[in-house]
Amino acid sequence: MTSLQFLQNTLKQSDKELTKVFFIFSGDFPKLGYSELKAILEIYNIDYKVLCIENQFCLISFKNFNEKYLIFFKRLAYCKTFAQLILSFSEDESESFMTFSIHDLFNSAKSFAVRRISVNTKKLNINYESIIGSKIKQLYPKFIVNLNDPELIFIIFCINDSIFVGLELYDHSNRWNDRRPRSRPFFLPFSLYPKLSRALVNLSRIKEEQMLIDPFCGTGSIGIESCMMNVNFIGIELKHWICIGASKNFSHFNLKNWFISQADSLKIPLYEANSVVTDLPYGITSSNLYKNHEDFLIYIFHEISSILHKGSFFVFMCPKSWKIPDTNYFILVEKHEIYVHRNLTRVINVLKRC
Ligand SMILES: C[S@@+](CC[C@H](N)C(=O)[O-])C[C@H]1O[C@@H](n2cnc3c(N)ncnc32)[C@H](O)[C@@H]1O
Repeated sequence: MTSLQFLQNTLKQSDKELTKVFFIFSGDFPKLGYSELKAILEIYNIDYKVLCIENQFCLISFKNFNEKYLIFFKRLAYCKTFAQLILSFSEDESESFMTFSIHDLFNSAKSFAVRRISVNTKKLNINYESIIGSKIKQLYPKFIVNLNDPELIFIIFCINDSIFVGLELYDHSNRWNDRRPRSRPFFLPFSLYPKLSRALVNLSRIKEEQMLIDPFCGTGSIGIESCMMNVNFIGIELKHWICIGASKNFSHFNLKNWFISQADSLKIPLYEANSVVTDLPYGITSSNLYKNHEDFLIYIFHEISSILHKGSFFVFMCPKSWKIPDTNYFILVEKHEIYVHRNLTRVINVLKRC
């Protein structure tokens, strides 16, 4: 039984009333992880309060925590892990271990491990893993330590002088490896990595069963992540051979509810979508269809505004040097810069249709 199933089975009413969960975002881009989390909380209308946010760490309390939230949080890309808070204390409060109790959440699990998540080089003088581990053993003698394949994992996270201990709820299985560009039947140098594609989809606040469009779909990276999340997908791509390659990718992963159309997105052949997410063509992929990027953006904004309803999102990436035009169609909600190499920094722009 995984921690996730375990918690689903045993979460008691009293726990649900005020559950605290801490999230540890990926070190490469913690701000993006936090933005994704906020987008997910917004999508599913979740009542929450941020208790602490600091770099890679975020502690949130939820009223009426629902097990379904764990499935929503699994959507997060830039998140290393998340855990239900069990205990927190400061480094000089060593006595607080004595109050450590994990009530009867653990009656049905047999094995556990305690792991420390390190995100910086700060060394702790005290080995909290073994202290917490032996305390658990003392309270639940039948609970076996299994470092290789434990049923429950307790994680310890230290930030400033505070130590947080939680029951890990994250599912580490099958994350990105089998979907990275080189693992797909068809890829090109511009193929996006699944982690970034997924974050873009999350920022667009799309829900399962809704329709997402990528008007410059290339090899289908954004679409693959959308379909993995049960979001319906339409990709538009100018070049026939790229459409064929992208279709192979979707079939390879046995994905459902996708459609690739060979067309020119300067005249989008569609009427509506719930979100538009794309990586705009630039460099050699941009062809000579438009004179300069500003005209191109104005044109594209106009096209995309016609298929989005008020309140829906348009998320796109473009080089940092591109100036985003002021239009009446969209407001800029947030942007994130991603350094690619010396000559290219990309920007993720999150726009809301007004
Ligand atoms: C930056 S790439 C997209 C990469 C894609 N996200 C991926 O991971 O493979 C842009 C794509 O837009 C396509 N493209 C360029 N102009 C287009 C147009 N007017 N209509 C549709 N597709 C176009 C290019 O052929 C290219 O495949």
